[in-house]
Amino acid sequence: MATLAPAVLPPEIASAIVNPVAYGEWNGIKEKFRWARDNMPVGLVQAEGYMPFWAITRHEDIMTVSKDNARFLNAPKSVVLGPIAVQMLTHMITGGSPHLVRSLVTMDAPEHMDYRKLTQSWFMPKNLASLEEKIRGIARASVDTMLATGGSCDFVHQVSALYPLHVVMQILGVPHEDEPLMLKLTQEMFGGEDPDLNRARSVELTPEQVTQFVIEAVRDFEGYFMKLAADRRADPKDDVATVIANAVIDGEPISDRNAAGYYIIVAAAGHDTTSASTAGAMWALAKDPEQFARIKADRSLLPGLIEEAIRWTTPVQHFMRTAAEDCEIGGQRIAKDDWLMLCYVSGNHDERVFPDPDRFDASRGPNRHVAFGAGVHQCLGLHLARLEMRILFDELLDRIDSVELAGTPQRASSTFVGGPKTLPIRFVPS
Ligand code: HEM
Repeated sequence: MATLAPAVLPPEIASAIVNPVAYGEWNGIKEKFRWARDNMPVGLVQAEGYMPFWAITRHEDIMTVSKDNARFLNAPKSVVLGPIAVQMLTHMITGGSPHLVRSLVTMDAPEHMDYRKLTQSWFMPKNLASLEEKIRGIARASVDTMLATGGSCDFVHQVSALYPLHVVMQILGVPHEDEPLMLKLTQEMFGGEDPDLNRARSVELTPEQVTQFVIEAVRDFEGYFMKLAADRRADPKDDVATVIANAVIDGEPISDRNAAGYYIIVAAAGHDTTSASTAGAMWALAKDPEQFARIKADRSLLPGLIEEAIRWTTPVQHFMRTAAEDCEIGGQRIAKDDWLMLCYVSGNHDERVFPDPDRFDASRGPNRHVAFGAGVHQCLGLHLARLEMRILFDELLDRIDSVELAGTPQRASSTFVGGPKTLPIRFVPS
């Protein structure tokens, strides 16, 4: 039986869920999510400055909502949490759309599948197998860079922020010299809430200022990709940029806004996320010499390390959905047009599915994490992310004998894409 009265989350839980700093601090938000899972797994968040929304915190409910793509839509409202002021600004700038960027994650059926099919085969295991040697070469070069530091480095700055960036830009077709620009714009777009990553490098930003900087980053991305698209129309190559530039749906070329959004999602989703889980894996190994030695000696454990790193880090911390009709989730009534947050951090720490969820256990199995989402929007790049990480750690474990933390790592302050932004390590080369 559905509860009639809405379950409203206590203010301290609600304010943490919308607070980027809480995700940077990490342990507190995990505790708050645990309370929500135990006491109010589908709880209404009423936080100052935000439209009310339902926080879905149990693994089972996140899966149910993610897979029911007819009832829980991506297009009607923003797929990323933002304050009302930001939503109003976005409406104004786009001429009425809730989305600053129009991409796969903001589309519903049938349009979504038409667009997804354009590039899907590029990211499937068969095609990736043909890229494996090239990716291994990039991984080796990344490990060379790390070893050249002589025994201590910031793993995020020197390795994990750059390696997945280089891989995905090669697939997309962005020249190597433009990668620093891609990294900067991605961090400004996803890291608008973090003083170390946003455009102004400032703590004291209003939500409107944050949005303004995110908008500027999006504009720069669009300008860059429109030039790339023109180039690939004139001079097609064997890359994803060419596929998007020349894409035709229902006999019509796709619009500039849709092409730009497609480039942006592949460019941005394709590296910051994988960088975060790569750094997460290194963090865990640096804290646990026994686990490091076990995996170094037995590489059949690598897939387990990768999957656990993705769960434990949860680089994408939420996505939003909008209810298409009145319905019920976890015994709670949800009305048509209600906004829902899929709290992946919480789902990936749900004790009902993951015993001792805070523990990093590379031999955890099964590891049915929700870090890649589920349903028709499930991450397009999940095979690529796993492959990149497996190859990097395979190379890396050949070349170092031990690793430890050389300082306190810091996580990004962000409600959306998060994970380590610094990871000081000391290592002994083999
Ligand atoms: C979608 C996570 C790596 C491209 C998503 C979603 C999540 C996610 C949670 C939304 C799923 C949903 O709504 O159900 C991650 C994580 C990654 C990662 C944790 C790394 C560990 C990548 C890579 C690419 C990529 C390497 C490169 C192409 C995309 C795209 C979508 C997406 C294009 C939109 C798919 C759609 O809406 O149909 N990702 N991702 N991601 N991801 Fe990833």
